[in-house]
Amino acid sequence: MAEQKTMLRALAGETLDVPPIWMMRQAGRYLPEYRATRAEAGDFLSLCYNSELAAEVTLQPIRRYDFDAAILFADILLIPDALGADLWFVTGEGPRLSTITGDSDFGKLKHASDIHEHLSPIYETIRILRRELPAHTTLIGFAGAPWTVATYMIAGKGTPDQGPAHALKAENRPLFNALIGRLTNATIEYLSAQIDAGAEVVKIFDSWAGSLKGDDFRDYALEPTRQIIAALKERHPGIPIIAFPREAGDHYIGFAKATGADCVAIDNSVDSDWAAAHVQTDGCVQGNMAPGHMVTGGDALVSEVRRIRKAFSGGPHIFNLGHGITPDADPENVALMVNTLREG
Ligand code: CP3
Repeated sequence: MAEQKTMLRALAGETLDVPPIWMMRQAGRYLPEYRATRAEAGDFLSLCYNSELAAEVTLQPIRRYDFDAAILFADILLIPDALGADLWFVTGEGPRLSTITGDSDFGKLKHASDIHEHLSPIYETIRILRRELPAHTTLIGFAGAPWTVATYMIAGKGTPDQGPAHALKAENRPLFNALIGRLTNATIEYLSAQIDAGAEVVKIFDSWAGSLKGDDFRDYALEPTRQIIAALKERHPGIPIIAFPREAGDHYIGFAKATGADCVAIDNSVDSDWAAAHVQTDGCVQGNMAPGHMVTGGDALVSEVRRIRKAFSGGPHIFNLGHGITPDADPENVALMVNTLREG
């Protein structure tokens, strides 16, 4: 029998001498071959919905760096798009959607079980990838967490402080709760279909979890993630799940136990030794190198890779950045990170 993939071993709780590595936003604008394929597709959303080209850009960083995992090329905002929220991207600015400010906006959204036809190209991308990926590479599917996706749907765009979502939560709690509930159910449907299509691991991105405090963190970051994981584990026993409550700070402690996640991804605002002492005690952690090193490189990058590897060497660890790689990163620095890690 072929040896089990390193990603799956780490997710099962094994401490490996050399941890598996992949990188958030590993298919992206820092790669010239990504920019070429994106130009061929026309725009970012057309690329997401073109199964052949989405599979191609997913494979590009695997060819270059032989990462241990490939992450499906798609976006967390495809769920709102599938629910009918009119998504588009403005070059240089980011996503735009129709806003949700009142009950009538919510009433126009589709039901959670009605998203699959719209999202069928994504499932096809996964099927292509399972045929084309190297045998040792693990395929990760993903979705945004309900709170993070809701912040974009309520404001109609990205916001620095998620102000409109916090305001709706304060002013119309029943509507806010209904939206979180719809997104929780849609996310279960979507991730379940990704697993059926061949995703071997799924990751839940809660990029704005850090702006939820106290009871709000419990109710809107922890609880929806717990519900999604419980439903997925029931439908797909044994499927490993990574949760990423970005900038959760002290709330990282106990997050895996409370939600049932197999691995918690740690952002780079957190000290690696602290995370090893307080989070890795519960199981696998992923992270947490600052993406800026992919821009600056050099000796600082090399010593940082070694420091993070050492900090997490006492338990299961997946090496990654603390957030996505940025478009101004140098592809040579990514190679330096991978080689430094694997050379020990
Ligand atoms: O990690 C990967 O390589 C997989 C693909 C992936 C993308 N977005 C592709 C993408 C994943 C996992 C995401 C997640 C995502 N998308 C998040 C959560 C993670 C995070 O970064 O916090 C969020 C908040 C989004 C929403 C989103 N998508 C925004 C705000 C933007 C615009 C900002 C930007 O970077 O341009 C996107 C666009 C986007 N998603 C790009 C890519 C490669 C750039 C699009 C382009 O080619 O112009």
